[in-house]
Amino acid sequence: MLISVEGLGYTYAPSTPLARTALRGVDLEIRQGERVGILGPTGSGKSTLAQLIAGLLRPTSGHVLLDGVAAHARTADARLRRLKVGMAFQYPEHQIFEQTVPREVAFGPRNLGLNDAEVEARVAWALDIVGLDPVEMADRVPLTLSGGEMRRLALAGILAMRPPVLILDEPTANLDPRGRQELLTRVLTWQAETELTLIVISHNLDDLARLAERVVLLVAGQVAADGPAREVLSDRPLLEDASFDVPPPVALLQALRQSGWAVATNRLLAEEAATEIAQVWSSTGGMV
Ligand SMILES: Nc1ncnc2c1ncn2[C@@H]1O[C@H](COP(=O)(O)OP(=O)(O)OP(=O)(O)O)[C@@H](O)[C@H]1O
Ligand SMILES: [Mg+2]
Repeated sequence: MLISVEGLGYTYAPSTPLARTALRGVDLEIRQGERVGILGPTGSGKSTLAQLIAGLLRPTSGHVLLDGVAAHARTADARLRRLKVGMAFQYPEHQIFEQTVPREVAFGPRNLGLNDAEVEARVAWALDIVGLDPVEMADRVPLTLSGGEMRRLALAGILAMRPPVLILDEPTANLDPRGRQELLTRVLTWQAETELTLIVISHNLDDLARLAERVVLLVAGQVAADGPAREVLSDRPLLEDASFDVPPPVALLQALRQSGWAVATNRLLAEEAATEIAQVWSSTGGMV
């Protein structure tokens, strides 16, 4: 599905004393299979943009088109397209309704009209991807889960519908480092197998470096940068203006370069930076 965002503006509570403009003049095009990260300081409009793409809000100005149809429209065409966009909310408790974990995950696939066997298979598959144990979770009441478990559950409920577009709003908040790593790896594997469009909103530059090939930087509701992840996430002045630091591997490489090492500085992951340093080290015979 092609997502086209054109001149998009959004104001909460317009024409009231509480009016608050969250987005202004945003243009973006996202193609099927792209992995796009959305980065921006608190309040820059990231979650608002996600909800507009999912058709949950109506633009104040401009358009969000899903394969050419307005995302929020009340037509059958628009509804079919919205079903293709799965969104895991920043606050997962907002999307949890059922009384047990398996029923919660089954809710979406059941609504798609799948038969019992297929629904059961989807539930088992989705719980596995997010790393929740189906036996342990069989009788758990969703709203008694921990923050990290609830986040995983909400994601499982979305994955079980197998949407071709997946929007993750702060997917690793409340997850411990190992759990975070596992979840990202599983989502990436699923993405690669299915040509899924992945839109990831995060404050965590390492998450974005792992998940996104393209990064859109939002500042005060406007696009401040949109380009390859390697370029955006290694641009120190750009990031500092938006109150972010470059990822630690980039900071290390930039420091080495300042002291005379001919290393490339746009290696975003620790393992890529290590390879870069090892290569330069061996090509100079350890002499700088
Ligand atoms: N329901 C609402 N009513 C009024 N203003 C809102 C509402 N939701 C968000 N806003 C305002 O819109 C702006 C953008 O909010 P949004 O939640 O999109 O930011 P964000 O980039 O997702 O922030 P965070 O990183 O904190 O999640 C902020 O100024 C916020 O205060
Ligand atoms: Mg948000």
